Amino acid sequence: MPLIQFAGETICCARGDNLRSVLLRHKPSMRGSLYNGAAGLTHCRGLGTCGTCAVDVKGDLTPMTKIEKWRLGFPPHQLDSGLRLACQVCVMGDLVVTKHSGLWGQRFAD
Ligand code: FES
Repeated sequence: MPLIQFAGETICCARGDNLRSVLLRHKPSMRGSLYNGAAGLTHCRGLGTCGTCAVDVKGDLTPMTKIEKWRLGFPPHQLDSGLRLACQVCVMGDLVVTKHSGLWGQRFAD
């Protein structure tokens, strides 16, 4: 069972679980940690189109999907930023997840 370190908590989930679902299921208040500011109300609910669930992840995830690559390929994201969309990835091992600042979580200078 993979362990996820996020927002000062350790969350256990099944291998293959969707990262966004795990974080929101663990504690609804995680919404405020996964989404910054108004994105908590305006996100695309996991469709992969808004880009606001972007997180910095260390650990094993599934490969990037076509829609994830598409959304991370235009501003404010950059495909080479190393960020992943929580709604488009599945947990394949232990993770350390960090949410950066900015409406899309795109800023690294925090
Ligand atoms: S919730 Fe919109 S891209 Fe993930």
